[in-house]
Amino acid sequence: MLRTHTCGELRVKDVGKRVRLCGWVDRVRDLGGIRFIVLRDRYGYTQVVCDPSSEAYRKAEDLTRESVILVEGTVERRPAGTENPNIPTGEIEVRAERLEVLSKADPLPFYPDERPSEEIRLKYRYIDLRSEKMKNNIITRYRVMKAIRDYFDKLGFVEVETPFLTKSTPEGARDFLVPSRLRPGKFYALPQSPQLFKQLLMIAGFDRYFQIVRCFRDEDLRADRQPEFTQVDVEMSFVDVDDILSVSEGMIAYVFKEVLGIELKVPFERLSHEEVMEKYGSDKPDRRFGMELVDLGAFFENSGFRVIDSILEEGGHVKGFVIPGFAQEMSRKKGDEISERAKILGLGGILWFKVENGIVSPQKKVLERVFERVSKSLGMKEGDVCVIAASKNRDSLNEALGILRLEIGRNHFQHLAKGFDVLWVVDFPFFEWSEEEGRYVARHHPFTMPILEDLETKEISKVRAKAYDLVLNGYEVGGGSIRIHRRDVQEKVFRLLGLDENAIQEKFGFFLEAMKYGVPPHGGIAFGLDRLVSIMVGESSIREVIAFPKTGNGVCLLTGAPSEVERKQLEELRISVREG
Ligand code: AMO
Repeated sequence: MLRTHTCGELRVKDVGKRVRLCGWVDRVRDLGGIRFIVLRDRYGYTQVVCDPSSEAYRKAEDLTRESVILVEGTVERRPAGTENPNIPTGEIEVRAERLEVLSKADPLPFYPDERPSEEIRLKYRYIDLRSEKMKNNIITRYRVMKAIRDYFDKLGFVEVETPFLTKSTPEGARDFLVPSRLRPGKFYALPQSPQLFKQLLMIAGFDRYFQIVRCFRDEDLRADRQPEFTQVDVEMSFVDVDDILSVSEGMIAYVFKEVLGIELKVPFERLSHEEVMEKYGSDKPDRRFGMELVDLGAFFENSGFRVIDSILEEGGHVKGFVIPGFAQEMSRKKGDEISERAKILGLGGILWFKVENGIVSPQKKVLERVFERVSKSLGMKEGDVCVIAASKNRDSLNEALGILRLEIGRNHFQHLAKGFDVLWVVDFPFFEWSEEEGRYVARHHPFTMPILEDLETKEISKVRAKAYDLVLNGYEVGGGSIRIHRRDVQEKVFRLLGLDENAIQEKFGFFLEAMKYGVPPHGGIAFGLDRLVSIMVGESSIREVIAFPKTGNGVCLLTGAPSEVERKQLEELRISVREG
């Protein structure tokens, strides 16, 4: 080894030792007559002192920041009063005798303790990754992965790799395609998840499978989405919903304990899809802001407010939520802003009132009595605000109010967003109407087990699935289901989905054939590792916990991918690119 110690290692007990350290020059300070170098590596910082008499002193003169050097010298205790309590090596320094520049750095586009625009950070990611914050995020990510592997290993799970060059999977986003050279005109699809392979592993008898695996989805990107992302993918045989949930919450609790030292209370709370939609207008609620949606229909009957009355007469709904202590911020202008936003979200607007020495509201003239009763019934206090809206369609009303609730929460009550709110959402609807396709589609995927009783007795939109999501601080960090292991049920589901027999055979024929040869009842789940880690470290974008992520439009600014390829490559693949 070039070095005897790392830059985070030396302590008072090492005083007197002759050592060799390597690292990056974090800073050089010239105190006229003596030069200090702060040397940095992954493990920490060590102060190096160069006396004027040493060769190191001369070499330190034109040392540039971020150059990589080797220093040889003796460990000394720092003179009293000059210790640095902020770093673990703060009581010692290394008196350099020899200094060798291993790689001289030009001026950098930015220095690791600076935070330029994200574009620049991504273009020079290797510099950005030198910052304490990014280094810690990436190391935390590794520790999470390690804890996950330890947890599953203890429970007898086997990690099995599944193919990347494969066929379309059933997750429903757009595929990334890879052209085949040996079979021109044919394409592999990169997996959106290992869904069918993990089910095949159950059919093969592996019983308990997991994999930390990259998945690829060509979808529109957001802060919590990347075109390639990592799943913690899990599948188990001879299980039902409860088994998957308890193994999963065990894993999440283990990871939080191991990595953050935080105890999460298990079992996690479970709420039905219907309940979260009614209370929070979202299937991934952040409950830390409170502000639950409540039905106010009863208060508004014959209210005298024409728009609302007519919505109610047509069987519509009125709901609202209370924003505690928001009266001061809730000016007329703010009310108009929220109302405009509500219109964009498909509502007619909002009504609102606040309790400030009585009822204050733009609609006070007509609705004072109604507002008084609402205020009393909801236990509103001086300074509270109530936002109300109505719509003929309950689902749209819930969803729009849910978005307003979340936006107000995230913009104004960020201070309440501390800690971790974790819950299961269960009993998802199986089918979802797709305007685009003009048919019902499977909300999770078509291999999910419906609640069989519902399938017999309920109309299609009311059939529930044995599907569940794990929600952490308002983000979906995991989702899964019990799978269909009976061919008759699978066929019925395909029929209800209106899937064309040939299309099914073409896409999933290999899987349906496997279902003929002995299938254990099974189910599983997949967690979004990037999302999980980003929430654990308190980042709002998953890009902050991925070493080399892509931008919002799928570009790798570091390498320039995606890029054009040589004509010869295209010819081999028999691909021609159309201009424009
Ligand atoms: P699902 O599609 O819900 O389920 O994905 C599981 C989890 O993966 C994360 N995730 C993403 N993270 C970052 N970028 C993306 N583009 C992205 N898409 C999804 C989410 C999500 O909860 N095969 C099923 C699982 C199963 O049924 O076992 C599946 O893939 O956190």
